[in-house]
Amino acid sequence: MYRSHNCGELNASNINTEVTLAGWVQKSRDKGFMNWVDLRDRYGITQLIFDESRTDKTVFELAKTLGREFVIQVKGTVIEREAKNKNIPTGEIEILVSELTILNSALTPPFTIEDETDGGEDIRMKYRYLDIRRNPVKNSLLFRHKVAMEVRKYLSDLDFCEVETPYLIKSTPEGARDFVVPSRMNEGQFYALPQSPQTFKQLLMVGGMDKYFQIVKCFRDEDLRADRQPEFTQIDCEMAFVEQEDILNVFEGLTRHLLKEIKGIEVEKFPRITYDYAMKTYGNDKPDIRFGMKFGELNEFAQHKEFPVFNAAELVVGIAVPAAGNYTRKEIDGLIDWVKRPQVGASGMVYVKCNEDGTYKSSVDKFYDQDDLANWAKATEANPGDMIFVLSGPANKTRAQLSALRMELATRLGLRNPEEFAPLWVVDFPLLELDEESGRYHAMHHPFTSPKPEDIALLETEPGKVRANAYDMVLNGNEIGGGSIRIHDKATQQLMFKYLGFTEEEAKAQFGFLMDAFQFGAPPHGGLAFGLDRLVAILGGQETIRDFIAFPKNNSGRDVMIDAPAAIDDAQLKELKIKVDIA
Ligand code: AMO
Repeated sequence: MYRSHNCGELNASNINTEVTLAGWVQKSRDKGFMNWVDLRDRYGITQLIFDESRTDKTVFELAKTLGREFVIQVKGTVIEREAKNKNIPTGEIEILVSELTILNSALTPPFTIEDETDGGEDIRMKYRYLDIRRNPVKNSLLFRHKVAMEVRKYLSDLDFCEVETPYLIKSTPEGARDFVVPSRMNEGQFYALPQSPQTFKQLLMVGGMDKYFQIVKCFRDEDLRADRQPEFTQIDCEMAFVEQEDILNVFEGLTRHLLKEIKGIEVEKFPRITYDYAMKTYGNDKPDIRFGMKFGELNEFAQHKEFPVFNAAELVVGIAVPAAGNYTRKEIDGLIDWVKRPQVGASGMVYVKCNEDGTYKSSVDKFYDQDDLANWAKATEANPGDMIFVLSGPANKTRAQLSALRMELATRLGLRNPEEFAPLWVVDFPLLELDEESGRYHAMHHPFTSPKPEDIALLETEPGKVRANAYDMVLNGNEIGGGSIRIHDKATQQLMFKYLGFTEEEAKAQFGFLMDAFQFGAPPHGGLAFGLDRLVAILGGQETIRDFIAFPKNNSGRDVMIDAPAAIDDAQLKELKIKVDIA
């Protein structure tokens, strides 16, 4: 037996007990005649004491050879500590060691295995197994486990059945590129790794499974960001015989359960807003509603005066920034530069100071009088002491720019408290989205999403106006889940493929299996998928999902620890009959 206890559980009630512990040497303090060693494992730290007058001489000498991160086993007696440490659960005791075995030595780690480490991101990624020994990373993984367990418990109690679906499949379009895997047995042919198990979960509904879920890896070859990894995990769900309302209720219930069990927070019914409202009010389909700064549209009050920039604009829109009326000229100029950066792309910004005495001072006083500015203040719900910032230009672009500014200001003003949670549903997404480059429509969610019946007629005339039975769950400005009610009949699915520009043959070749299945009694069905990594990160108070993934990829999609992706050798290429031609 390697150990009788772990390193986090012994306390004053164990005094005088003989114990065996195993773990890693966190650090030692050698005072010559007395040597203390902190022994660490996943559960905590226990102090060991080697005392010249009480410890066997060979054991005492061996203890002096221990280096950081050596793996050791000790036997000894639990004794009361003289200098107690109130900060840790084992702080009242120490182990007077009688036997010491070095199970493995260790090289000096390239960074300190402490909560605050001296190791930079790159080195910690290369030695991720050492990083995992640190509390912040270890605790993130334990936290993720806890969330995943609660998800399984909640869904299983509601009769959801976890079913595994294959990884070696054919392309499932979710809007990214596929990762492909060559098939040795089928020369010149490739599997695609699933961007999601979308078609399989629908087939499970045709198969009568009724309620499915899976905590499942998905693979998407897309540009990476803090909230995106090329392989990530979904809580993927599907239900038969449901309408949108049923789905929203079940998964709002799941989210409420998680907030309560994991964070101890009770949340009221989640607000529901339409996509159109979200775009008009926040310039964004994943609004952070922990704070206000709602958009006020100013066309009515700002156009047809003498200011040519606003007169020429499709949209003039502003936000009132709370208690920012005292910003200095330098701070304002800094913000103007910020919105003019290429990442945001505004060409300029107008501001209005709302003075405490109810008057206004703006950068466009030449064109607008106090009554005009009072209307702007009303439309943006500005109070005395606030500052209104106004952008103008093409509607969609301007909304996106103002949304970026709104989020930036909220961050600067400390309005994005990670311990506050403001979930909501965004519903009624458009079915189709125009790709400006190709001039073609593509599915905004995915091609299996059903249009709202009352909008189907618009498909012929104004495809961009057709709304879908699609919804997203948004938490603190992040899309943590999305789904839809699906098409479940062949004719509508075929029509949808046609509108998406597939020929009949292409649709049949790629999705014939699904349309075939729809002819064998497909029930009405729908579902959604949460991004587990995102959900866990946000519940954990962070936005970088990498911290909650045991072995993540870096920003170039590389695993720097195992050094992947990598070339494969010629024999393997030959076997796969693949020629590599890198010009
Ligand atoms: P969707 O594409 O919206 O829907 O994905 C669902 C959720 O998965 C998360 N997510 C990601 N997380 C990390 N890295 C990524 N690269 C990444 N991409 C997506 C997001 C997102 O909300 N099959 C549909 C679901 C359905 O219709 O039921 C789907 O995959 O949190």
